[in-house]
Amino acid sequence: MIGIRGGAPRRARLVGFGSYVPETVVTNQDLERLVDTSDEWIVTRTGIRERRWVSSEQATSDLAIGAAKDVLARTGVAVTDVDVLILPTCTPDHVFPSVAALTAHGIGATRAAAFDIQAACSGFIYGVAQGTAMIEAGLADTVLVVGAEVLSRFVDMEDRTTCVLFGDGAAGALLTAGDPDRYTGFLGFELGADGSRAADLQIPVGGSRLPASGDFAPDQAFVKMNGREVFKFATRIMEESVIRLLERLDISIDEVDLLVAHQANQRIIDHAVKRLGIAEERVFNNLERYGNTSAASIPLALSEAVDAGRLSAGDLVLLVGFGAGLTWASCLVRYEPE
Ligand code: COA
Repeated sequence: MIGIRGGAPRRARLVGFGSYVPETVVTNQDLERLVDTSDEWIVTRTGIRERRWVSSEQATSDLAIGAAKDVLARTGVAVTDVDVLILPTCTPDHVFPSVAALTAHGIGATRAAAFDIQAACSGFIYGVAQGTAMIEAGLADTVLVVGAEVLSRFVDMEDRTTCVLFGDGAAGALLTAGDPDRYTGFLGFELGADGSRAADLQIPVGGSRLPASGDFAPDQAFVKMNGREVFKFATRIMEESVIRLLERLDISIDEVDLLVAHQANQRIIDHAVKRLGIAEERVFNNLERYGNTSAASIPLALSEAVDAGRLSAGDLVLLVGFGAGLTWASCLVRYEPE
């Protein structure tokens, strides 16, 4: 249960990360056997070399449970201390119930309020913004935000323009209430959505407009994407969103220790890195091994950045993402595990 606590000023603190990915590795060479594509095309156009796919028994909540347990194990927080579980996903197990409720049950977070957030690949930052707001408003002390996706079930294996891009995985972060005299926490967020661009990236079937029970062409149940338009949007919005955020906070890009961008396409990231003028050694990417895992991609990269020694206590971290909606999000936070 979450309650009204109020009282002393509070700051949401970013404590740590965790992840879980399915075992099956699908390489570009594996895809060459399924569709008319090549390793060379995929690597040159996207930077992706392999991705993970779930087994036939696994769904999104199974990955989310693995990631949530990993976050708690790495941060040393008891599951019974979790007040809220926020689960950004665009590939839920069902229309309802939420993946969050299934995951809370799966990990034994019996006290936790639990809900999903649908902001596609921007979802992790949206979820963290929500968790921050709940902590700073005094509604919760401990919030788990876990992005989880099974995109392999929603890509058309006959559409080479999309099936090579996406992968499955889950990863998350733990936020707790921190003393503002001691912790910096989240400095700011820049979130947005433009529904006029909805058709550029969507799964048409499965909701109330085109229910799964209706008549539709089989390919309508899969990701439909206008790749060039999404590419143009992504390169523009990543730069604009970050600049708006940094200007509002009066912080220079040179003060940022690590940039973790949504892992969709290496060319999109490279473009943003160049335009923002941040040194490449201050950027962490892992999309070559996972492809685009949507709401899981940013925390999956953050988890691995910690493991690789690329993210240290006290570092100022810039996160930026974009996705279906079309949505976008950026965030500046100090990583404060101790
Ligand atoms: N293998 C081989 N050839 C492929 C291919 C594949 N997997 N996918 C597309 N092609 C072909 C196209 O059919 C086209 O052939 P044509 O010229 O004979 O018609 C050619 O490659 C070029 O296609 P184009 O769409 O212009 O390529 P691109 O350089 O724009 O790259 C994307 C395509 C999808 C990689 C790129 O547009 C992109 O990354 N967009 C953003 C997608 C994204 O990030 N979505 C998720 C957002 S959260």
